[in-house]
Amino acid sequence: MSTLEARCAFALMLALLSTTAFAEAPGLGTPVSEADIAAWDISIMPDGTGLPAGSGTAVQGARVYAEKCSACHGDNGRNPAAAGAGPMVSGPIAGIDGPKTIGSFYGYSTIVFDFVRRAMPYNMPRTLTSDEVYAVTAYLLSINKIIGETDVMNAQTLPKVKMPNRDNFIIRFPDRI
Ligand code: HEC
Repeated sequence: MSTLEARCAFALMLALLSTTAFAEAPGLGTPVSEADIAAWDISIMPDGTGLPAGSGTAVQGARVYAEKCSACHGDNGRNPAAAGAGPMVSGPIAGIDGPKTIGSFYGYSTIVFDFVRRAMPYNMPRTLTSDEVYAVTAYLLSINKIIGETDVMNAQTLPKVKMPNRDNFIIRFPDRI
């Protein structure tokens, strides 16, 4: 058999195999239930869609922060960038090359909640209660001087917090926000 014939035969064999493979269900895995999906479907939209019940203030969040965050992020979220878990507070917006912290960069307050809930504490993600996430989110917004220490953050109030850098983003899909 020439090389060309061999290649053609191989291609034909692959085509036949794949037709058979896709014609019948392979019988692998188990169906994914709605509950399984819900456990992973935790994204929060800028308008607050997806925020859970619960609430918290910066005063409460300061306690959560001291216990579960400050070891890596330093007192008051001011670890130097070199410490790995970078600073979460900085001066005002400093342009595209400035430090990208919650106060100077984030376009939406709900990002803080979403990120903390899914990824923090770094060594134990998804262990905080919703109240703890609201409280520590309030704390981070408060030390950035975006809200007051006693402002209650919940599913209604958090999305209304306007971030200082909001208007510097170009929204590609405004109808999705
Ligand atoms: C074990 C160390 C550790 C602990 C504890 C920890 N973090 Fe982090 N955190 C990190 C690291 C490392 C990053 C950077 C992650 C990355 O870039 O992917 C980070 C990033 C963040 C960011 C994003 C900062 C940015 O640059 O925009 C936030 C917000 C945050 N952490 C909040 C928290 C909160 C709130 C807690 C406590 C509930 C916490 N972290 C506990 C290590 C930690």
